[in-house]
Amino acid sequence: MLKEIHEQPEVIKATQKNYLQEFFNDFESKFKNLILNKKIIFVGCGTAYHACLVGEYYFNKYTNIDTSSELASELRYKKINKDEKILFIFISQSGETMDTLMALKYIKKNKHSSIVITNSLQSSMVREADVTIPTYADKEVGVASTKAFTCQILSLANLSIEIGKMTNSISKKDYNKNLAILKLLPIKLKKLIINFTPEAKKIAKKLSQSDTCYFIGRNIVYPIALEGSLKLKEISYMHSEGFPGGEMKHGPIALIDKKSLTICLSPNNELYEKSISNAEEIAARNGKVIILSSVKIQIKSLNTHNVSLPKENFIDTPFIYTIPLQLISYYFALNEGTDIDQPRNLAKSVTVE
Ligand code: AGP
Repeated sequence: MLKEIHEQPEVIKATQKNYLQEFFNDFESKFKNLILNKKIIFVGCGTAYHACLVGEYYFNKYTNIDTSSELASELRYKKINKDEKILFIFISQSGETMDTLMALKYIKKNKHSSIVITNSLQSSMVREADVTIPTYADKEVGVASTKAFTCQILSLANLSIEIGKMTNSISKKDYNKNLAILKLLPIKLKKLIINFTPEAKKIAKKLSQSDTCYFIGRNIVYPIALEGSLKLKEISYMHSEGFPGGEMKHGPIALIDKKSLTICLSPNNELYEKSISNAEEIAARNGKVIILSSVKIQIKSLNTHNVSLPKENFIDTPFIYTIPLQLISYYFALNEGTDIDQPRNLAKSVTVE
């Protein structure tokens, strides 16, 4: 897993290079008919589902298309409106996950169109889908998905700005600006991995004094909070939950006590103040808090600790907040002595229902 975390700058570079020079070249002729006048529903399981949720935020920002996400195992048993034109975008590292594959077959039967974003070009989903968007994460061996996830969100970032440009919902200037940010991402992430590693080791030690770990985030880092929590559960077996920050007051805040640690994802955006006030509410109830933010914060409470992350833009935010969480989970699990690459009860590809 550590190797795959460290490979992310390279595979992101390879994926982006391919998209720019080949895959998304000639975007209109490849995608126009498939996309226009349709609602989009993203579908996946586990980590791939978290990528779906990130996709929703990207599409909401850069396009005018209505999108939503479905867990594949739920979609399979729902009624789908046959009259509405829907494009389903399936996300799967393996391209073989049974729930996702069956959901793809189900929507095909209902005559809807499909794209699959996958790391496995020889897979069953590729054979079923109308169009495939490859990720170039190379083979992912660790059960806990790391580099496949960041390549999936890179794919969605590109798809959303390409659609935005095609439909004039973003300007040419913004499109170019976002592409330039994505191009610089590998260097930024390489530095982040190096700089954050000592912090991850310190946070891992703090975690061992807690019974449970919560992750909170708003907007595009809400799915990252879910993903951080899934990573921690999967490889360390520690109890963990991810919440949207705004939901804390509607119930989850009752869980907070001095044996809990909350990792609060607070990028420098219009929700920053609200995110910090969530962190303060948790600290006021004796919960330990770690704030990950690109803003240098003046901390008032003793049980709150702030770790600086690089300055982010909207489009690179999910990458910058994902990698620290992967490293924290990894070093915590290492201290716990679990089998990180082959955690108990889990399989790399879930080919049963
Ligand atoms: C990720 O860490 C998990 N092992 C798991 O949630 C995985 O993402 C899920 O089973 C979907 O797999 P897929 O991407 O191969 O379809």
